[in-house]
Amino acid sequence: MAQVGIIMGSDSDLPIMQEAIDILKGFDIEVEVDIVSAHRTPEKMFDYGKNAHKRGIKVIIAGAGGAAHLPGMIASLSPLPVIGVPVKSRNSIDGWDSVLSILQMPGGVPVATVALDGAKNAGILAAQIIGTSDTCILDKIEAYKEGLKAKVINAAKTIKP
Ligand code: RP5
Repeated sequence: MAQVGIIMGSDSDLPIMQEAIDILKGFDIEVEVDIVSAHRTPEKMFDYGKNAHKRGIKVIIAGAGGAAHLPGMIASLSPLPVIGVPVKSRNSIDGWDSVLSILQMPGGVPVATVALDGAKNAGILAAQIIGTSDTCILDKIEAYKEGLKAKVINAAKTIKP
């Protein structure tokens, strides 16, 4: 059963959002992936936000670019934690439009916003949320962090001044 729902405003967001899919698969966390547009399929967005938790989804990752309303609207509809990924899409001016659309939520309706095109970190954050109640996932996250540390230490050893 999928634990993380990954949605995006357009299939043009998929190359970025794929990084969230890949890292979650690496932690053996099942995901469901869908295109849900706040502007083009508002009824589908409403249905997704109202029902994702009822089928066992624990965290939603929502990516969008330009006038990026999807993460905030999903957060307004769903009781689940929502992680927002601002995407630098073809209709973004410079990416700040997507960042600010997702980041500057009103009090009471949080969206945990990652960096521009930061889908990989969104996936890791979702895994960490799942890991708070699943020691198997928590162990995998610890191992992942050990891997990050080892990479830096090994890279430092190769530097020849
Ligand atoms: C947003 O508009 C989507 O999330 C996408 O980032 C952007 C462009 O969409 P397309 O015109 O490529 O479908 O709603």
